[in-house]
Amino acid sequence: MRHLRVPSDQTQVWLHRCRQEGWLSKASVLQLDEGMRGIPLLDGAPDDGDERWQGHTIVHREPKQQGPAHWTERLPVALQALPQDTWPTAYEIQGDVLMVKLEADIMEHQTAIAQAMLEQLPNVRVVCADNGVTGDFRVRELTPLASRDGNLSTRTRIREHGMAMWVDPSEAYFSARLSTQRQGTLEQVKLLRQRLGRAVVVADPYAGVGPALPLLLTEPALLSGYLVGDLNPKAVDLLKLNLETWSAKHEGNLDPSLLVCDDARVWQHDPLRTGLADALLVNLPHDSLSHLPTLLPILNQSGQRLLRGWAIVERADLAQTKTELIDMIEGAGATAESVEVEEIKGFSTTRCFVAFNAILAWE
Ligand SMILES: C[S@@+](CC[C@H](N)C(=O)[O-])C[C@H]1O[C@@H](n2cnc3c(N)ncnc32)[C@H](O)[C@@H]1O
Repeated sequence: MRHLRVPSDQTQVWLHRCRQEGWLSKASVLQLDEGMRGIPLLDGAPDDGDERWQGHTIVHREPKQQGPAHWTERLPVALQALPQDTWPTAYEIQGDVLMVKLEADIMEHQTAIAQAMLEQLPNVRVVCADNGVTGDFRVRELTPLASRDGNLSTRTRIREHGMAMWVDPSEAYFSARLSTQRQGTLEQVKLLRQRLGRAVVVADPYAGVGPALPLLLTEPALLSGYLVGDLNPKAVDLLKLNLETWSAKHEGNLDPSLLVCDDARVWQHDPLRTGLADALLVNLPHDSLSHLPTLLPILNQSGQRLLRGWAIVERADLAQTKTELIDMIEGAGATAESVEVEEIKGFSTTRCFVAFNAILAWE
């Protein structure tokens, strides 16, 4: 079958064009040599050398027929006879790890489900039953069900905003859903740099595997140093690994560059972790507000500083949250120049997840 040979980053453009022109075959797109894809063409599509191909060439390859559209079509035939609503409709993928919540009544089919998912999703290495989040470290209780290559490890590498990051959902908290918040953090820290007229030191004492950091570290001349940590030693191991890669992409010195495994509330007693940061991130949503008074000493207590955090609060108390933040800031001897509390999403019928941003000023 004829395939149009295009660079992989132009695949979507050419798929769209060929579909619109009625040239696209139902076969699948082929992976050709390094960085190139083959768009499958119908007989009626123009010949090789036609100017409409804008210089792209046509190659002849065996067509790759499309397989089943859904993983349930890969289940053993006897199971396919069960009603469609027997099967889970949602799953989450982090890197090459797939996590699926299974109701008790389909546990007996867990291996068949995992095998069918592996067959359907070529980028998945291991399929795990997701038994929910546990403990203060908010890690998932995962049971590996089937692996493509025998490796049942849940450590995996993901990409976010173009940067690679090691994660392990069974050992450390990570949520891809908060990626827009991390973009927001970048914007807020850039505004702070503008206010201060210099690169800034950021503190992230509940850093997890560190997802807030790659955007900050790779933005030219944004950070002059960092103080990061987590209480979960396994998160700190991954954070260390990630920081090695991200710091290598940072231009210039990073001073301080401190990574600790500790309770954020004890940072206040260490001179190396207090009075240094220009921006403080507080991401322990169930406890951010109650921990906050112990965290403010992390900030450099002169001039304008940024406090950005996330919290779960009663929706009815949203206005009160702002007052609480102002009280805490004033309790630390600073003025609250601005305080914003923004609802991000619902959390339960009465509670919501909010992001807060404050500019504090010390004399
Ligand atoms: C909601 S997660 C946020 C992680 C990370 N900032 C992110 O956005 O993915 C909260 C993190 O705080 C850590 N943690 C819980 N209690 C802590 C404490 N008292 N001091 C420091 N870290 C803590 C947990 O291990 C977890 O990694």
